Amino acid sequence: MIVLIGPMGSGKTTVGGLVAERLGAALRDTDHDVEATAGREIAEIFVDEGEAAFRAMERAAVAEALATHDGVLALGGGAVLDPGTRDLLAGHDVVFLRVGLSDAVKRVGLGTSRPLLLGNVRGRIKALLDERTPVYESVATLVVETDGREAAEVADEVVSAL
Ligand code: S3P
Repeated sequence: MIVLIGPMGSGKTTVGGLVAERLGAALRDTDHDVEATAGREIAEIFVDEGEAAFRAMERAAVAEALATHDGVLALGGGAVLDPGTRDLLAGHDVVFLRVGLSDAVKRVGLGTSRPLLLGNVRGRIKALLDERTPVYESVATLVVETDGREAAEVADEVVSAL
């Protein structure tokens, strides 16, 4: 399995779709799988049950996808924070789509015109990048730079590197 990891705004779903297309494989997306299984949106799960419960559902979705799917798997941005999820990835090709703060904010925050919200989005993304980048790096078997690049170019590099 080719597993794509990285923060929100790194392009996991978009690049994952293109990588799958180039390989004639299918893309699975754990955010989608968790929502389908729970019958609720992720935001609702966070509010109703909290992040720890979401991480457990996400771990179950990763385990299920690895056992039943052969192709490309895009993980939610925080999935690798869970040690159990990290353990499941051993032996797979794990691609960290690296993104810097500005590109992540641009991709996530496009469409908002509220300076205060944009300020918050930037601050939150900066904190997440600072905290999680070492985790992504420790889990990845390949790191691909996405800053300033089109998804198609990133997907080409993933396919040629594996
Ligand atoms: C999260 C990222 C989201 C989703 C959830 C939590 C995170 O996935 O799993 O909102 O902790 O970074 P994407 O990275 O696909 O947006």
